[in-house]
Amino acid sequence: MPPPADEIDIPLFDMVLCFSRAIDFLHPKISEHHLRVAYVASCLAEELGLDREETQNVLIAGALHDVAAVSCVTRLHSFEDALAYYHDSSPQFSDDLHQHGREGYLLLRDFTPFAEAAQVIRFHHVNWDFGRGSAFQGAPVPLSSHILRLADRVAVLPNDEQNILSQVADIRATVIAGAASLFKPEVVSAFESISEKESFWLDLTNRHKEAILKKRFGAPKVRLHLDGLHQLSRIFGKIIDYRSPFTATHSSGVAAISEELATRLGMPTPHRRLIGVAGYLHDIGKLAVPTTLLNKQGKLTPEEMAIVRQHPYYTHQILSMVPGLETVNTWASLHHERLDGTGYPFRTRDIPLGARIVAVADIFTAITENRPYRAGMDRAQCLAVLDQLVSEGAIDGDVVAVLRGDFEEIHHIRSRSQQAFAPTIFAARQYALQSEDGSRTVAQCRR
Ligand SMILES: [Fe+2]
Ligand SMILES: [Fe+2]
Ligand SMILES: [Fe+2]
Repeated sequence: MPPPADEIDIPLFDMVLCFSRAIDFLHPKISEHHLRVAYVASCLAEELGLDREETQNVLIAGALHDVAAVSCVTRLHSFEDALAYYHDSSPQFSDDLHQHGREGYLLLRDFTPFAEAAQVIRFHHVNWDFGRGSAFQGAPVPLSSHILRLADRVAVLPNDEQNILSQVADIRATVIAGAASLFKPEVVSAFESISEKESFWLDLTNRHKEAILKKRFGAPKVRLHLDGLHQLSRIFGKIIDYRSPFTATHSSGVAAISEELATRLGMPTPHRRLIGVAGYLHDIGKLAVPTTLLNKQGKLTPEEMAIVRQHPYYTHQILSMVPGLETVNTWASLHHERLDGTGYPFRTRDIPLGARIVAVADIFTAITENRPYRAGMDRAQCLAVLDQLVSEGAIDGDVVAVLRGDFEEIHHIRSRSQQAFAPTIFAARQYALQSEDGSRTVAQCRR
């Protein structure tokens, strides 16, 4: 049974680290980038005498600083290329550089516990520029942004093929050479001091970064109850969705429909909200799927399909990192299982009602939402697909019966939730995918 709502009590810190690890799945070539930046930035903050709260804000900023860059892939060839460009400090990419900082700020600022971190992220690519970088476009740039600027650079300098300690002198020299031009001098001084210790470098390259961060900086400052968890999941859902124009508001639709179905099936209010959290996060494992596959036009090859089908496994792995999220994890990560035990990745028949609801909400949303390559299905087409899946023993007929009972109203709720969620901050990035593949079938409809 799910926990009662008043027992939902999750450290924000754990949610941030879990999501940071998830976005680090995006670019395995530059390992643990966000967690490394979080580590370096918090060490610098501590060395500079920032208090515990400010240090934790710097850590959150480091852990999430490039969230908006995950949507850059439609313009840059891949996220790996994007990283290579923007860590290069190439002047010709300066507009893009600041844009993902600004977009990260817009994504995160409305969640109160992230308000400070969002400000830090906004300016994380501003160079010190001999003092001119104390302000940018008329706004003051906080010290924490200059901390993040240096930490971002340090995190990409180690060559993971070589022993880290043999590289320290070169990395220190590179950073010191950027004092005053790229980096604020007092931050460079703090770096010179912390980087003398071998332990700093060994922690930086240690694979168990969450444990190190938690032990050193993780005294629980903010705990999330049901509303906070719901709000945060909504933001994470946006970030998950923006990677693909095929699914730009998909998670919000799944969350809204899951909550609506749960209500109509008589689940108590707290569980309805919790199922919304599962809806927002059900595809978090897609962060481990290359965008080239998510956005591929036309049929996926069997090998590509196998990679896409790993995503609910990663959803499970990622959400397992957060104590207290067990029920949400079960409801979210079983969304591709079938009642007859032939789904994936667990091939289980033990599927609780919450997971059955998310599975139906996911299919319903996927086939009724408009996508760049096709219009959403109408009532008759949609119910025919769902009835077929019920008759095959894939999904729960009782849940589908609720949908059939009030199709128009539930459909309206889906469409309204997705409109409300439409990508306002990415409006300038209207995706221009044309329907080269209008014939994509339901079976290929990615969810
Ligand atoms: Fe960045
Ligand atoms: Fe970065
Ligand atoms: Fe999925």
